Amino acid sequence: MTKSTRLLLIGPPGAGKGTQAGILAATYAIPAVSTGDIFRSNVKNETELGLRVKAIMAAGEYVPDSVTNAVVENRLGESDTAAGFLLDGYPRTPDQVHELDRMLSAQGTALDVVVLITADTDEVVSRLLKRAVVEGRADDTESVIRHRLALYEEQTAPLIDLYEKRNLVVAVNGLGAVDDVTSRIVAALAAKGILAPAA
Ligand code: AP5
Repeated sequence: MTKSTRLLLIGPPGAGKGTQAGILAATYAIPAVSTGDIFRSNVKNETELGLRVKAIMAAGEYVPDSVTNAVVENRLGESDTAAGFLLDGYPRTPDQVHELDRMLSAQGTALDVVVLITADTDEVVSRLLKRAVVEGRADDTESVIRHRLALYEEQTAPLIDLYEKRNLVVAVNGLGAVDDVTSRIVAALAAKGILAPAA
């Protein structure tokens, strides 16, 4: 493994970011930092932050940048991220990219690779409707899923260009078995010189 590994997973809702983040975090021995998980845990525990974001999330809107940036800055200030991390679901807006750049440059670091997980709309809608039955996530109704996808296309997909200009993006097909998607990501990272630590 490189001395430290700073990864970002990007892709539409339902592409498999959270699923892959968990596996990759274990594989590369780095913490996964998921803004969605952090917000959901706050909603569940009815914290001040949770009460603030609950309705926003249920509607499939983005939490305001100032709130999200503060959450991430706080998390990346924790010692377990010093040797690397995997961001899942952040940044999603130009302001968040700017703020992440600022946070990392203040530490003298930067992202190493941006993994774009691709999946077509029919597949992600079908996955999220299945998850609705199993997990009952408030934002997994069909109308909210479609809104989340539209918001992704409008606000987050344009960030891929920006990271492509920095030569950081590897695109990985998110269709097929979870293990196959993981293998594709691991191969794409290896091609960028990022290897899992020896077991
Ligand atoms: P977040 O939790 O990040 O939701 P999302 O981006 O909509 O992504 P999902 O969790 O729905 O999908 P995923 O790509 O992680 O796929 P997953 O692995 O779960 O954000 C939720 C909300 O929080 C946002 O809408 C917003 O309100 C707020 N928020 C978060 N970050 C924010 C930010 N930066 N700025 C502002 N607001 C923010 O998989 C989906 C399903 O598919 C699962 O059931 C899974 O088991 C299944 N699956 C996964 N892989 C496969 C496969 N290969 N084959 C079949 N099924 C699969």
